[in-house]
Amino acid sequence: MSPSSAPVDLRSDTFTTPDGEMRAVMARAEVGDDVWGEDPTVHRLEEEVASRLGKEAAVFVPSGTMGNLASLCAQTRPGNDVIVDSQSHVVLNEAGGAGAIAGVMISTVDAVGGAPAAAQVTAVLRVPDIHHPVARLLWLENTHGARAGMAVSADAMAAAAGVAHGAGLRVHCDGARLFNAAVALGVDPTRLVSACDTVSVCLSKGLGAPVGSVVSGDAACITEVRLWRKRLGGGMRQAGILAAAGLHALSHNIDRLAEDHANAAVLAAALRGTPGVSVVEVAVPTNMVMLDTDVPAQQVVDAAAHDGVLIHALSDHRVRCVTHRDLDRAAVGRAADVLSGFFAGRLTAAG
Ligand SMILES: Cc1ncc(COP(=O)(O)O)c(C=O)c1O
Repeated sequence: MSPSSAPVDLRSDTFTTPDGEMRAVMARAEVGDDVWGEDPTVHRLEEEVASRLGKEAAVFVPSGTMGNLASLCAQTRPGNDVIVDSQSHVVLNEAGGAGAIAGVMISTVDAVGGAPAAAQVTAVLRVPDIHHPVARLLWLENTHGARAGMAVSADAMAAAAGVAHGAGLRVHCDGARLFNAAVALGVDPTRLVSACDTVSVCLSKGLGAPVGSVVSGDAACITEVRLWRKRLGGGMRQAGILAAAGLHALSHNIDRLAEDHANAAVLAAALRGTPGVSVVEVAVPTNMVMLDTDVPAQQVVDAAAHDGVLIHALSDHRVRCVTHRDLDRAAVGRAADVLSGFFAGRLTAAG
């Protein structure tokens, strides 16, 4: 298929594939048995991520879901309460692992600004009482996927974390797309997560590595996360092949996330004001464009797919488009034409 006839795949940035250079560094990677702690490339990746995030230690895990779950298990006991936004990935899209495996209670708030406001955290903290679960963890997400990929400011993260720490809770950040947030906000990622005890970042999304996430935090907690990784079946042997891709992604693919953000802005601008669809607006957007549609979302998905543009239906009347490194400005422009053409055509037909 020629590049122009290949579908424009906006379903997720997880569809990025390793390029030739990345495959070459993977092929050359020095490896060892990482379950025995003997893979030098995994060590390098863990040190690199810990240092980029200003944390003491880090552990490489197979996926963001496992990074989140191992972090949750390491910092709570069954029956503990976790305070989290109702639209968080851990609540919506991690197959109930928090309940099934960590055995925790979840207290949700509606964090429309991305991070719970300080007063929302205070409101769900329960006074110590024999009847109450003990709250142990505040859960943040940045960027916030289900909230249209918004980047959450360092101040908002710190305000929520400050209340949690004051009440003796720990704080975890699901930073699957933390580097998108840092680039969009123009802040150092260290500053973004300075108030978080643990952070999970994904290498396999906009950064373009095929597999892998890294959890960072204090050394004692990371030892515990490593134990949980083993317990969950996430110990990998010659994982340096994957870690090499992650190292390459960190050194080559962070700054360029700005291009994905600019492409998402182009798509949003092309559709803003189009009858039949409204762009979900957020203060600091990144690489996601969410569209609320008058017609059923699946109808838009099917029509777009017919014209070579793949997007994802999030709910009955909401679709998501995600820009990434495998799509250039021309491809995103093609998607904008197809989507605006769909809405224009539908209205003409209906009128
Ligand atoms: C915000 C967020 N957290 C966690 C994950 C889980 O990552 P994985 O698919 O690697 O398990 C995702 C996946 O898309 C995500 O978007």
